[in-house]
Amino acid sequence: MYQEKYMLRAIELAKKGIGAVNPNPLVGAVIVKNGKVIGEGYHVRYGELHAERHAFANLTEDAEGADMYVTLEPCCHYGKQPPCVEAIVEHKIKHVYVGSDDPNEMVSGKGYEYLRNHGVKVTTHVLKNRCDEINRVFFHYITTRTPYVVMKYAMTMDGKIAAYTGESKWITNEVSRMKVQESRNQYVGIMVGIGTVLEDDPQLTCRIEGGRNPIRIICDTRLQIPETSNIVKTAAQVPTIVAVGDEIYETSSDKIEKLEQLGVKIIPVGMVDGHINLRELMGILGEMSIDSILLEGGGTLNYSAVMQGIVSEVHMYVAPKIFGGKDALTPVEGQGVDTPSLAKLFDLETVEKIFDDIKVVYLSKNRYRLPETFVDREQFYNNWDEDTLSQLSVMVDEKATAPYSTCCYKEDELWHIAGTNNDDELIVVESGDEAYIFTKLDKLVRLKISLRDQRDLLDIDELMEQLT
Ligand SMILES: NC(=O)c1ccc[n+]([C@@H]2O[C@H](COP(=O)([O-])OP(=O)(O)OC[C@H]3O[C@@H](n4cnc5c(N)ncnc54)[C@H](OP(=O)(O)O)[C@@H]3O)[C@@H](O)[C@H]2O)c1
Repeated sequence: MYQEKYMLRAIELAKKGIGAVNPNPLVGAVIVKNGKVIGEGYHVRYGELHAERHAFANLTEDAEGADMYVTLEPCCHYGKQPPCVEAIVEHKIKHVYVGSDDPNEMVSGKGYEYLRNHGVKVTTHVLKNRCDEINRVFFHYITTRTPYVVMKYAMTMDGKIAAYTGESKWITNEVSRMKVQESRNQYVGIMVGIGTVLEDDPQLTCRIEGGRNPIRIICDTRLQIPETSNIVKTAAQVPTIVAVGDEIYETSSDKIEKLEQLGVKIIPVGMVDGHINLRELMGILGEMSIDSILLEGGGTLNYSAVMQGIVSEVHMYVAPKIFGGKDALTPVEGQGVDTPSLAKLFDLETVEKIFDDIKVVYLSKNRYRLPETFVDREQFYNNWDEDTLSQLSVMVDEKATAPYSTCCYKEDELWHIAGTNNDDELIVVESGDEAYIFTKLDKLVRLKISLRDQRDLLDIDELMEQLT
C-alpha cells in the first residue's frame, strides 16, 4: 500500500495548482529514497516548472536510486519547459510510478518509452482512477480542443431557479455559494445568456480573496447588452467576451466600437435556430486557450447547451425550499424532449451535504472518456476476500509479489482491473496486450483474450452468462 500512499500525496500536491495551470494539467510528484520523502513538487502555474522539476528543485538529498511518484505520464517534448523525462534520467531515478497516461499525442506512451529506453523502471496506472479524476478538464481539452463545460445551477426542492417574479437571490446557503465561488476560481471561463444579464445585472467575478476572475462569456445573439450593465462597466478590469450572431455583427459597428472601447471583446458566431451556435462558439473559445467553462445559465441557454451536447458535467445545488409557481423558471427550459426515452442521460458522480443544502455532481454519458475505464481498486478489495485475491494473483503470475497492494503485480508490470460486472462476481484484468477474465463462481476460471476483444466487451454481464 506504500505506493498508494505516495501517489495520494502526489494527488494532494497536484490539486494545489487548481485555477492556476490551465490549460495545462494538474500534476504532483513525490520523490522517495529509502522509505523517506526527499522531494515534493507540483505544477504551480502555467508556464512555470512542471511537477517533476519542481520536486527536483526541492530535493533535500541526492536523488540517485530514488523512486518517483507522479500523477501523470512525464512529458518528453519541448514546450514552455524542457522535457521532464530528461530530468528524471539526469537525476538517476530508478523507478517511476505513474497514475494517468497522457492522451496528448506529443506525449502519449512516448514518455514511458523514453524512460524505459534509458534504464528507468516504469510502473503505470497506480491509482489511475483518482489521478484521472483531477484532470477531467485537461483530458477533454487536449483531445477535443474545446472547453470542458460544467453546468451549474441552484434550485429549490420543487426545481425552481427563481420565483415567478424573476427574483432569485438567494436560493442556497452561504457555504454553497462559497463553493460556487471556488468553481469560478477553478474554471477559466464563466458563461451566461443575455437573459440573465438583463434580469440580474450580475458581475460574474470571483469573490474569493486572492482568487482569479473567470473570463466572462455572454451569449447575446442580438447584441442587447446595455453599456450601463455591471458586466460592461467592469470590462476594463475583468476579461469579457460577448458572442454575437454573425449577421447582427455585420450591422452593429457603432455599438461594437463603443463596447470594444470599454474593454469588451466581441466575437461573431454562426447561428442555429436564431441563437448562437454553441458548438461553433466552443471551437472558437478553445482556440483562445479557454479549456473550461462554468455555465451559469439561465434555463434558456442551459437547454441549448445540453441539447447541443456541450455539457460534460453538472453541478446541481438544491436548497430545502419550495417556491411553487407554474411560471417560475426551472434550470433547463426550452421546448424539452417529446418523450422520456429521448432524455439526455448522466452518471451520478457525487452527493455532498452542505448543511441543509445538497450538491450533486453528474457526468454526461456523452462526455469525452479516456479509452479505458477502470474500477476503483478500493472497491475491488472490499468485494474480494484475501484468499480469492491471492489465488487470483497466483493465476496471473506465479511469481506475483504484493498481491493486494497493486492488484495483480508482476515485476514492474502492473496488471490493472479493466472492468467488473455489477455484482463484482467477474473481473477483467489487463496488462499490455493481454487481458484475463476471472469469475468468482465455484472456482476461478481464467480465459485469455486479446485486448482488442476485451475492448469490445460491451456487456460484461452477458459475458458472465456465457461463462456460467
Ligand atoms: N438560480 C440559478 O442558478 C440561476 C442561474 C442563472 C440564471 N438564473 C435566472 O434565470 C433568469 C434568466 O433566464 P433566461 O432563460 O432568460 O436567461 P439566459 O438563459 O441567461 O438567457 C437567454 C437568452 O440567451 C440568448 N442566447 C444566445 N445564444 C443562445 C442559445 N444558443 N440558446 C439559448 N439562448 C441563447 C437568447 O437571446 P438572444 O438569442 O436574443 O441573444 C436567450 O433569450 C433570471 O431570472 C435569472 O435570475 C438563475
